[in-house]
Amino acid sequence: MSSDSFNGVRLTVAPMEGLTGYVFRRLHQSFFGGADAYYIPFVTPTQEPRFTERQLKDLAPSVNRGIHCVPQLLTRRPEDFVWAVRALLDMGYDEVNLNLGCPAGTVVAKGKGSGFLRTPAELDTFFGTVFDTLGDDIPVTVKTRLGWSEEYEFADLARIYSHHPIKRLIVHARLKTDLYKGDVRLNVLQDALPLLAMPLGVNGDIVTVADLKARLAAFPRSVELMVGRSLMADPALFRKARGGEAATHDEIFAFTDALLKGYTAAFSSLKNAVMRLKEYWFFQQFLFENPEKHIKRLFKARTPDDFFAALDAMKNELEIRPEPVYGWRKALG
Ligand SMILES: Cc1cc2nc3c(=O)[nH]c(=O)nc-3n(C[C@H](O)[C@H](O)[C@H](O)COP(=O)(O)O)c2cc1C
Repeated sequence: MSSDSFNGVRLTVAPMEGLTGYVFRRLHQSFFGGADAYYIPFVTPTQEPRFTERQLKDLAPSVNRGIHCVPQLLTRRPEDFVWAVRALLDMGYDEVNLNLGCPAGTVVAKGKGSGFLRTPAELDTFFGTVFDTLGDDIPVTVKTRLGWSEEYEFADLARIYSHHPIKRLIVHARLKTDLYKGDVRLNVLQDALPLLAMPLGVNGDIVTVADLKARLAAFPRSVELMVGRSLMADPALFRKARGGEAATHDEIFAFTDALLKGYTAAFSSLKNAVMRLKEYWFFQQFLFENPEKHIKRLFKARTPDDFFAALDAMKNELEIRPEPVYGWRKALG
């Protein structure tokens, strides 16, 4: 996909653990024409300066060949970040992203992800050490939330980010305490724009092509629009944004079949692959008219046979919508 696909703004796939792994990335690119970049869900570099076999399953250049991927690291230890950035650049990646957004309890308890936002002075020191060690030209980008629990935190964080040669800042405009609920706090990002020196990426609650346009109009200096959950509902979103066709009914079901095959091979287990497909269909259902009865049956399926029967019924009976409804918002409360 060309980098000038949306008025010169990059359209990128957000990292989503369990959803945007290599099976998805490869199939999404081949079915729907891809994205300007796919962020790889975070990996945590260990003190031992080597990626584990498990981490390499998603990070290995061989599984990502021909796909523009950006790996993401989750850590608060500069030493671990430094070795991992070097290793990833050696593997051929052209950018490494730091996760300052993850709100999971086990992550923030260790002061990582959005937990790092609670200690801005330490974050400042972290970046100081990283750029002193790796040099100002190192292609490090950051994905952040606005803060831990208060909107005013972001001004301080924005000043810290701007002290360092971070190549791009992607903002999911929520606080940690918002988790994924409520509206994105675009006004907070808007107010902090004069404090942000680096190129900006914007993320959060972009659902349709109209939303992509509106977000760009609200933040004309954005160089990147990042989308996560809506792409799970409408994998053709970026294709449409480039003037292409909406997803067809047959395409969506062929994509589901391909994901199922891909995960069955990756997990060596049809049962686990079926469980994974239910996670996609939590979002995918919202691209169809009145999916409630069918989706209930799909989620309740105990065996792969039950799952296939439910899927067949959906294939025969559900009608596709031109755009998804933002139904996952309601499910989150
Ligand atoms: C299941 C799931 C897994 C996620 N995993 C990651 C992750 O590994 N790294 C990260 O920075 N954000 C992660 N996120 C957050 C998304 O990247 C994104 O910031 C968030 O969903 C808001 O964007 P959206 O409204 O376009 O989905 C995850 C979100 C979900 C729902």
